[in-house]
Amino acid sequence: MRVLVIGSGGREHALCRSLRLDPEVTELHCAPGNAGIADLAVVHHIDPLSPEQVTHLAMGLDADLVVIGPEAPLVAGVSDAVRAAGIPVFGPSKDAAMIEGSKAFAKEVMTAAGVPTARARVCATREEAERALAEFGAPYVVKDDGLAAGKGVVVTDDREEALRHAERCERVVIEEFLDGPEVSLFALCDGNTAVPLQPAQDFKRAYDGDKGPNTGGMGAYTPLPWAPEGLTDQVMREVVRPTVEELARRGTPYTGVLYVGLALTSQGPKVVEFNARFGDPETQVLLDRLQTPLAGLLMSCATGTLKEEPRFRDGSAVCVVIAAEGYPGDPVKGDVIKGLTSTEHAYVLHAGTMRQGDDIVSNGGRVLTVVGHGPDQDSARRSAYELVSKIELRGSHHRTDIAL
Ligand code: AMP
Ligand code: GLY
Repeated sequence: MRVLVIGSGGREHALCRSLRLDPEVTELHCAPGNAGIADLAVVHHIDPLSPEQVTHLAMGLDADLVVIGPEAPLVAGVSDAVRAAGIPVFGPSKDAAMIEGSKAFAKEVMTAAGVPTARARVCATREEAERALAEFGAPYVVKDDGLAAGKGVVVTDDREEALRHAERCERVVIEEFLDGPEVSLFALCDGNTAVPLQPAQDFKRAYDGDKGPNTGGMGAYTPLPWAPEGLTDQVMREVVRPTVEELARRGTPYTGVLYVGLALTSQGPKVVEFNARFGDPETQVLLDRLQTPLAGLLMSCATGTLKEEPRFRDGSAVCVVIAAEGYPGDPVKGDVIKGLTSTEHAYVLHAGTMRQGDDIVSNGGRVLTVVGHGPDQDSARRSAYELVSKIELRGSHHRTDIAL
């Protein structure tokens, strides 16, 4: 099978690594990739947001499957164009990807499907925002309606800060605060059928102790030994299947991975967000534990023939993101990274990196994901942090409390 992966993050490096380990994959390509992916796949320098360029590349490579990693190409209609050219694609259509591309649309689908989520108001003016903030009270949750790379949400007790965020965005969703631990559950979907991966947990805030601004994610682990019994079945029943059915009913069947971000509230699991793609960095730990060969799974989603429930290996995986100075604001780029090595139980996945002569230099906000694994969470965690301590990147920061 010839596979083309679109994207350049830690998630795509993890996807490429698992695809490389699958004997069915005879050729692996990635666009635009990064310095780590270049060791596993042929990288192509095209614009991943251009439906024409991606389709042209996929056709030129005679690709059997195109796997789209990030949300931006999905929302730009890349999967529609590739599918129209007759090539199987893992990733939803532009219309189905609006489940992530518009928070207001996601709420509308959830309401129609009877999916438990926070009560919310869509606001376009200061007056509407003021009314919604008063209705739900503090802590205030204000979300940019459109895509914002994991940085569009402000949760604050400060009413002025909440209003400022609302005014910065064209349209916001203001919603009730959901209290309780957060869980990420991903479901693979082929348009009609959906099967779950195992739950994972992400650490969204920039600094230790869940302090600081929201980020794309600073670390993750799987499985969740503390998760309530039956959680996956409940979420499949109450959230995933009704959502997939509702999207199919609207004529926009969902193909790819549905990312369900949940808060486990005292009234049961409620949806915090949907994403139209694998989560980053949860994917890095989930794929570490995935036993079922990845290419066949993704292909069965792309071709509407999904049957198999993915199997996972015993044991635990923990990952830690190393971020550039300034992230999640303006990251400093171009610093040399040293100590890029692996150990028996840990390895490095690249995100914002590029090759410059003999050096590998930083080239984005989240630069590396270090993955450790072991028979239990403690040992996986230790292995990950041991390797983190060997890596040098001037000004970089990482959380020290992932999976603690
Ligand atoms: P989102 O981009 O929707 O995932 O939001 C980013 C983060 O903001 C989530 O992972 C939560 O930590 C927090 N968040 C979003 N919505 C809510 C909510 N209704 N209640 C509490 N926290 C929230
Ligand atoms: N880790 C959160 C996300 O991928 O959106």
